Amino acid sequence: MTGKKALSDLALFGGKPLFSQVKSIGQLAQPNQARFFALARKCFAERRLSNNGPMVQLLERRLADFHRVPHCIAYANAGLALIALIQSIAAGRAGSVVIPTFTYAGLPHIVRWAGQEPLFCDVDRDTHTLTAETASAAMAADTIMLLGVHQANSPCPIDELEELCRARGITLLFDSVHGLGATYAGTPIGGFGRAEVFSLHATKLLNGFEGGYITTHDENLADLLRRKRNFGFTGESSVDTLGMNAKLNELHAASALAALDDLPALIERNRSRIEAYRESFAEIPGISWIPYATANKTNHEFPLLQIAPDWPLARDTLVSILRAEGALARPYYAPPLHLQDNPSHAPLPVAEALSGQIVQMPAGESLSRDDIDTLAALVDFAYIHAESISSALAADGTSR
Ligand SMILES: Cc1ncc(COP(=O)(O)O)c(C=O)c1O
Repeated sequence: MTGKKALSDLALFGGKPLFSQVKSIGQLAQPNQARFFALARKCFAERRLSNNGPMVQLLERRLADFHRVPHCIAYANAGLALIALIQSIAAGRAGSVVIPTFTYAGLPHIVRWAGQEPLFCDVDRDTHTLTAETASAAMAADTIMLLGVHQANSPCPIDELEELCRARGITLLFDSVHGLGATYAGTPIGGFGRAEVFSLHATKLLNGFEGGYITTHDENLADLLRRKRNFGFTGESSVDTLGMNAKLNELHAASALAALDDLPALIERNRSRIEAYRESFAEIPGISWIPYATANKTNHEFPLLQIAPDWPLARDTLVSILRAEGALARPYYAPPLHLQDNPSHAPLPVAEALSGQIVQMPAGESLSRDDIDTLAALVDFAYIHAESISSALAADGTSR
């Protein structure tokens, strides 16, 4: 299947890579092109390309319905949406925000851009999300907010987080970038906490090229966030809040609109791809797949391969082998954020253990069943030849 017979056939050792076009970990879902170009032509015909035009307004209505909330506020991306949201809730106070350590590496910067200090907490071994117990252990006297991050394999334990935040008098927010299409106790993710934030980046489930949005039940907060994304303008020349230019443009909104109806089918294809991974890799010893929660609906965004502690190659060596072949696998959330931020941070043992074990495998629409079989044959080859791979790397003297 791989055509790899000798060690020198591995791209890591100079062989020809298996994939001439790289295999991404992103969704790279194509919005329906006929629908997109029809909407784009409308934008040009009406000369409305930005500034809260009809496409953005329609997208906001459709997404509010989808998430069953009264308010959706589109932003240029999820990062700016999170900054504006955290800054709005802080309302001039400089304090701290508790975030999980096992998540997207950009999150601490987002918190700091919003004028707050991130405090890192550990996560649950199975769901990989923070819990009331791990979050409360990280809280300080100046903590203003808890920012839960839903994982692709499981939403946060929302009930216990709501109870904790109520008891502490702090605000609960969610980064729901990996929770799109998921549910919690039968209710779509999007309506929990004070507000939730989603991304429309091309690698995510709903492709607006770039983009993001906030969902909330809170009308005053929604109004404030609309002003903040447009320099804080209240009229043509007056401002009443610290704002920025974080508007979503019309063409990006059109792309997300053209993709929205296909979301359930995309999630179903993600589920099948993970099933295909399980089947293809079934005979390789020491490989398992991070299970997706069954009590709640999830989006199956990431195939997450876990190698046994006694697997004959280190996780990072396996990642190097895959990447050299053009399969852009990644160590999953490694190193954890608290250690990136401060190498002498107190241990957060669950996240530290998880961050050494999991490979985020290629995913999404550019990945065929044949590609998955090819990846399985490659990992099998690496397993069988582990000893000689390790010796060749040691002789080479490079750590790859
Ligand atoms: C958990 C999480 N939050 C926020 C972001 C930022 O999203 P955007 O690229 O839309 O700014 C990402 C991006 O990957 C993410 O994974």
